[in-house]
Amino acid sequence: MSVDVMTRPAVLILLGPPGAGKGTQARMLQDKFGLVQLSTGDLLRAAVAAGTPAGKQAKAVMEAGGLVSDDIVIAILNDRIAEQDCRNGVILDGFPRTTVQAKALDELLASTGQRINAAISLQVDDSAMVERISGRSTCAGCGEGYHDTFKPPKDGNSCQKCGSTELTRRADDTAETVAGRLEAYHAQTAPLISYYDAAGVLQSVDAMAEIDQVAGEMATVVKSVMN
Ligand code: AP5
Repeated sequence: MSVDVMTRPAVLILLGPPGAGKGTQARMLQDKFGLVQLSTGDLLRAAVAAGTPAGKQAKAVMEAGGLVSDDIVIAILNDRIAEQDCRNGVILDGFPRTTVQAKALDELLASTGQRINAAISLQVDDSAMVERISGRSTCAGCGEGYHDTFKPPKDGNSCQKCGSTELTRRADDTAETVAGRLEAYHAQTAPLISYYDAAGVLQSVDAMAEIDQVAGEMATVVKSVMN
């Protein structure tokens, strides 16, 4: 891992509809800049798998493609961001998703003397998202993401990062659920683009390009906001 020199903990937010590439790009930025990817989707899936009270409440909502309640998500995020490995900075992947969550994050950061370096909007066409999501698989060993067409594992059936042969599909990655998730995004999350524009931290990236090209553009943006 090559870690670029930073003088203060960074807070980056990735905004974009399901399939925009938030997870893909967050993992690449994590490796490049030594930041920690915090995916509320991953944290919620772990809570569902562990059968915690929050996971039990979240399960049906996630399967239906809706948004889990702000209280649950904010509590999960607050606990995770307080952990020691987040001290050098974080990439928020899938959080905030509502104005209530954005305000809770502002309060949390104000209480710790931090600020948002950038909210990066990944701009895509909705029409391409069903294909991206229906071809997605995830390594059960390390969480690396793949795509049947756009990013197949190099040797066909094992993870090129950790070697695991268990590549899984997400329960909510169906065409029907994606439609609901896109609707939730436009109704509840897209307004955050204006929210962060007004706060002076909005950046936009064309996320319809190939993965490596998007990654190059993301890295340029991130370097420009790290100080
Ligand atoms: P979450 O896990 O956050 O899912 P999502 O937002 O729907 O986003 P995805 O993970 O589907 O897409 P992505 O943008 O990360 O794309 P990826 O990089 O994988 O949330 C799941 C659920 O949890 C929500 O529906 C909700 O119920 C709940 N939840 C989570 N956070 C919440 C919150 N804050 N509040 C309330 N509820 C919350 O890429 C997709 C595929 O495309 C991959 O196969 C990838 O290889 C491929 N790909 C990526 N980039 C490109 C490219 N440039 N070209 C071609 N293919 C590409």
